[in-house]
Amino acid sequence: MNDKTRYEILRQREMMKAYTAADVGTEPTDQQQKLPAPAPVKSGKGGMKIPLPLDFENIVQDKNLFALLAERESCRVYREEEISLKELSFLLWATQGIRHFAGKMKQVTFRNVPSAGSRHPFETYLFINKTEGLTPGIYHYIPTDHTLELWEDYPDYEEELTDALCGQEFAGAAPVTFVWSVIPYRSEWRYGRKSHKYMLIDAGHVCENLYLACESIGCGTCAIGAYDQDKLDELLGFITGPSAETDNEFAVYAASVGKKREPSPK
Ligand SMILES: Cc1cc2nc3c(=O)[nH]c(=O)nc-3n(C[C@H](O)[C@H](O)[C@H](O)COP(=O)(O)O)c2cc1C
Repeated sequence: MNDKTRYEILRQREMMKAYTAADVGTEPTDQQQKLPAPAPVKSGKGGMKIPLPLDFENIVQDKNLFALLAERESCRVYREEEISLKELSFLLWATQGIRHFAGKMKQVTFRNVPSAGSRHPFETYLFINKTEGLTPGIYHYIPTDHTLELWEDYPDYEEELTDALCGQEFAGAAPVTFVWSVIPYRSEWRYGRKSHKYMLIDAGHVCENLYLACESIGCGTCAIGAYDQDKLDELLGFITGPSAETDNEFAVYAASVGKKREPSPK
């Protein structure tokens, strides 16, 4: 290992640590400096919104937590079948759905996943190929009113998405592929230089909820951490490259979803 790599590893290991003596006397966070909090959710583009159903009773299978945990697995082969709008709605609700707003300005969201300081720094984008009633394309989830908005009218995304996901064809061709972006300033505002550890932990919670929610409705998912940052960001229309702007947004995690085959091939 050369000195450059050793230095980078050292720095990244420090990023994984919580508060240490080195933090004493460092600059107060923007929240401590009483700077205004960033918006907790990105508003839509103003296009037509697709309302998502919220009555999930008849789609959730009667499986206890033990069965869900014991059967959870990464699933990369899907049935040639549409996901229903209700199923998609359930997966969005389980991963980023808002239960209530809190705080003086109603600027804090409480959701179905935990997040350090309830900052919830993520946005959800869906590459939809096979979902009941939805034209294939790229959609953005708006959790404030539990709706979807067409983000990009691009039905033939498969080849480009596969390429952006480092050639993982199963994910490019999946009935639905979730891509979570992060808007780092939502967490940086509160936790400053410590926020990056929390945001990555938060992302894990979101995807684990997707695994368990999929398992409970007969769907399967596979987490995707291998992707080309610039290609995926470009596909979603984000500015690529380093940025310290408060509205900087980039892809941070992804997951393919489809109806599970029984039994799932190993
Ligand atoms: C952070 C993370 C990134 C992952 N990235 C990929 C990926 O890019 N492609 C893939 O096929 N699987 C990916 N996986 C799935 C793992 O390969 C899988 O969880 C592991 O093999 C264990 O299998 P299991 O989930 O069925 O228990 C990822 C999982 C995690 C948690």
